[in-house]
Amino acid sequence: MQPLYEGKAKRLYTTQEQDVLRIVYKDEATAFNGEKKAEFAGKGELNNRLTSHFFEVLEAADIPTHFIERISEREQLVRRVTIIPLEVVVRNVVAGSLSKRLGIEEGTVLETPIVEFYYKDDSLGDPLVTRAHINLLKISTTEELDLLEQEANRVNAVLRPYFDEKGITLVDFKLEYGKTPTGEILLADEISPDTCRLWDKETGDHLDKDVFRRNIGSLIDTYQTLFNRLGGNTQ
Ligand code: TMP
Repeated sequence: MQPLYEGKAKRLYTTQEQDVLRIVYKDEATAFNGEKKAEFAGKGELNNRLTSHFFEVLEAADIPTHFIERISEREQLVRRVTIIPLEVVVRNVVAGSLSKRLGIEEGTVLETPIVEFYYKDDSLGDPLVTRAHINLLKISTTEELDLLEQEANRVNAVLRPYFDEKGITLVDFKLEYGKTPTGEILLADEISPDTCRLWDKETGDHLDKDVFRRNIGSLIDTYQTLFNRLGGNTQ
């Protein structure tokens, strides 16, 4: 069956049900807008399990997501949405592009979390955009952006203490939202070590894709360690 859509880390298929899609998690990892690429046997399975688990944690906190269920090692069923072309990044601690952009040392704890919007467009390299830019591009209304920001902060308010209890700092993460055919806005895409920065509170070790981006460790060993730290929870 032909995928409806193929991204860098996942393939998306239709199902018998009009409103339900099947996601298949791939073993591929990319960084720097696809410039760096590699395959890691077992990555798809780990990210499928981790994403499914995080979506369940969020659903339990009444956060609406596209997630329905994990149906196999690398597949899950989700509700069909049209992705809003924005990456919504939430930051608790300065790292990555924020550190580079503003010249603030990585590891500086932010007094209040920051929410940023990036325009999802590979040909432009997913630029940081202001609300005025988003209005200009007619991507979302001001009211919708208020909702996205509020929802992203709610996700942070659930996940930050969840990781903290496990001895892990949720440094930053990226979310994507989608709209159902009836206009409902749902948290979509994935939440995984590909899309979060997670630092061990004691050692400062990176438990996320930065080990691949920065060549500082084995991606599979790191993702497996994270999985084990979270209790090897498959549900
Ligand atoms: P950044 O510091 O590179 O802007 O990344 C912020 C967060 O967003 C970090 O947790 C990694 C995640 N992220 C993605 O999930 N996809 C991307 O394409 C980028 C650039 C970052």
